[in-house]
Parts: sequence; structure tokens; C-alpha cells
Amino acid sequence: MAIATTLFDLTGRTILITGASRGIGFAMAKACAEHGARVVLNGRNPDTLAAKVDELAAAGHDAEGEAFDVTDEAAATAALDRVVARHGAIWGLIANAGVQHRVPVLEFPTEDFRRVVETNLTACFVLGREAAKRMVQTGGGSIVNTVSMLGPIARPTVPAYIAAKEGLRALTRAMAVELGGRGVRVNAVAPGYVATEMNTALIENEQFNSWVVGRTPMGRWAQPEELGGAAVYLMSPAGAFVSGHVLSVDGAMSVAV
Ligand SMILES: NC(=O)c1ccc[n+]([C@@H]2O[C@H](COP(=O)([O-])OP(=O)(O)OC[C@H]3O[C@@H](n4cnc5c(N)ncnc54)[C@H](OP(=O)(O)O)[C@@H]3O)[C@@H](O)[C@H]2O)c1
Repeated sequence: MAIATTLFDLTGRTILITGASRGIGFAMAKACAEHGARVVLNGRNPDTLAAKVDELAAAGHDAEGEAFDVTDEAAATAALDRVVARHGAIWGLIANAGVQHRVPVLEFPTEDFRRVVETNLTACFVLGREAAKRMVQTGGGSIVNTVSMLGPIARPTVPAYIAAKEGLRALTRAMAVELGGRGVRVNAVAPGYVATEMNTALIENEQFNSWVVGRTPMGRWAQPEELGGAAVYLMSPAGAFVSGHVLSVDGAMSVAV
């Protein structure tokens, strides 16, 4: 039996992707656009964002930008309102913007802990709640949170990141069970080590780099583009009954001893 070609079709769906001016967020936005979605890219820097929107538009995709800081609740809510006003509905939210801060736990400043949690967890809650309010009014939708392989497993110097990402996994489940009956699915994607700007220092560190390569069964870092398919799947009809799920994209690192 032939597989329906509409399984991964996102035509007519408007998807906001936070942290989409580079790295994983941009790769997810590009993949969704390639499958027909109208993508709204977010990041804090309007110029960087405009360049990435132009890149997608030049390739024939339906792309626009909304520059705001995800930790600014008023700005995030206003952006969602503008998207709905322009297009009538928002189908998808990929809450992907995130920051890292590496300091040993005994020296980790409280203000940095709060900042990392604010960006990587609280902002995803606010955006998820506000997007879901609008989705339930316009026929449902899909929310995808970018978590991490770290959370259920840990390593030194990133306590705030690990706590925030594990919290985001739990929030994914909490929202999925509450919103399932309202037509909104909520899932998460958990990348392993991905070669993005966030990890430049680690990639350039020969010792860390060879640890990642040796510790990952697939023997390498992921490329950002390899996260695109997970986003398309969870946004598309192919994922129509998938909710509350955390999809690992980590080359089997999280299941290896
Ligand atoms: N790379 C990995 O190995 C890896 C592994 C697991 C999980 N992740 C997660 O994947 C997500 C993306 O990571 P990445 O590696 O692609 O990171 P990245 O290359 O550093 O990109 C981060 C993106 O987030 C945006 N951003 C940061 N803070 C923001 C804020 N307050 N408001 C709005 N946008 C903000 C940045 O744009 P501006 O700076 O212009 O705002 C940029 O577009 C993060 O949640 C990260 O924790 C990454």
C-alpha cells in the first residue's frame, strides 16, 4: 500500500519557532517551510532574524519574522496576537529558544540559575499557555518544546540547564494531558550533542570533542538539519495521535552505557 503523500504536509499551517535565527531552530523552521508551512521565525536580534527570513523567502518559502525576547511576556503575547491577526490562526509553536551557562555547581551564581530557568523553562510555559489559548479557539494545534538529552541524565557544570530542561519535559507531559481533549498536542524533541553556535567552545576543545564522538554510538555530533524531521513529524498529520512524547534525536547516546 502506498504511503499517503499528505502525511507530512504542513500546507496552510502557521508555525512560530522561537530561537530560529540560527542553529536547531532555524533548521526546524526550514524543514517545516519545505513541507509547506508558513513559518514565523523568532530571535532577539531583528537584523540577524531578517537575514534568515530572507534566506527562506529567497528559496520560495512562506517566512516572516517576529523579533522579541521570549522572557518578555508582554512582547511574546503581542507577537502571538499579531500572528493570529495576520493569518487567522496559529497551528504550531516550537518553543526552542534556549541558553546555556557553564559554571561548577559550587560557584554557580543564583542570578544565572534564574536567567537560565527563565529562558529555558518559564518562557516556554508562558508561550505554550498563550499559544494554546489561541489554538483551542481556532481548531487545535501542536506544541513542540526543545528539551535535551540532559535532564534524565546529567553531567557537571550545567545544573541550571539540566534543571530547566527536565522541568520542560515535565511541563510537556502536564500540558499534554490537560490539552489533549482540546485538540492541542504537546511533545518535546530531545537533541544530543548538535554542532551549533551554543557548542562552539566544546567543538573546539579537542578533549570534549573526542569524548562526544567516542561516547555517541553513531560516532559524531548531530548537524542541526538532522533535527528538522522530528519537528515536521510532530507538527504534521503523521503525528496526529502523538502527544506527551519526548522524541530523542541523539545518535543513541542517551541509551548507551
Ligand atoms: N546544540 C545542542 O547540542 C543542543 C542539545 C540539546 C538541546 N539543545 C537546545 O536546542 C535549542 C537550540 O539550541 P542551539 O544549539 O540551536 O542554540 P544557538 O545556536 O545558541 O541558538 C539559540 C537561538 O535562541 C535564540 N535566543 C536565545 N535567547 C533568546 C531569548 N531570550 N529570546 C528569543 N530568542 C532567544 C538565539 O537568537 P538571539 O541570540 O538573536 O536571540 C538563537 O536563535 C536550545 O533550547 C538548546 O538548549 C541544544
